[in-house]
Amino acid sequence: MPILSSSIVILFLAFLVSFPHISNASLPDACKAAAASSPNVNYNLCLTSLQADPKSTLANPTELAKIATNLASENAKTTKAKIKNLLADTANVAMNPELSTCRSLYSSMIDNLSVAAKAIDSSQKGTARTYLSAALDKPGNCEGAFSDKQSTSVLSKENTNAKQLAAIALALLNM
Ligand SMILES: *[C@@H]1O[C@H](CO)[C@@H](O)[C@H](O)[C@H]1NC(C)=O
Repeated sequence: MPILSSSIVILFLAFLVSFPHISNASLPDACKAAAASSPNVNYNLCLTSLQADPKSTLANPTELAKIATNLASENAKTTKAKIKNLLADTANVAMNPELSTCRSLYSSMIDNLSVAAKAIDSSQKGTARTYLSAALDKPGNCEGAFSDKQSTSVLSKENTNAKQLAAIALALLNM
C-alpha cells in the first residue's frame, strides 16, 4: 500500500512538472502573433518580459494582456521615480521643464494603465483599448519634449521600453 500511494504521488508530481511545458507553447505563439500585428512589438521583449510572471505559462491572450498591462504599470512607476530623482539633482536644472513634462506624462500613463487593467478584469475590451492607446502615447510625448528643444533625451531607453510594453498589452488584447 505505501508503495502504491507513493507511485501515485510520483505520477502526480510528474504531471504537475510536465503540465506547464505543454501549455508553454501559448506564450511564444501569442508573442509571435503580437509582433506580427504591430511594428511596436518586439518578439523577444514580449517573451522575456511576460515569462517573468509564472502565471503567463497558463494564460490566454486576454490574461496575457492583463499581465503586460501590470508590467507596463510597474515599469512606468520605476521611470517616474527615476524622473523624480533626476529633478532633485541640481545638475539637471537645464532640463527641468522636459523632466517635469515627462513626470506628468508618466503619471497619466500610470492612471491610464490602471483604468485599462480594471477594464480588462471586467471584460470591457473597448474601454481597455482606449486607455491602453492613451498610455501608449505618453512615452513618445516625453521623448518629444526633449527633441522639441533639441536636447538629448536622458529617458530614451525608458521611453522605448514603456512604449513597447504598452504596445504588447494592446496587441495581446486585440487577439
Ligand atoms: C489618462 O490619464 C490622464 C490623467 O489621469 C487623464 O487626464 C486622461 O483623460 C486619461 N486618458 C484617457 C483616454 O482617459
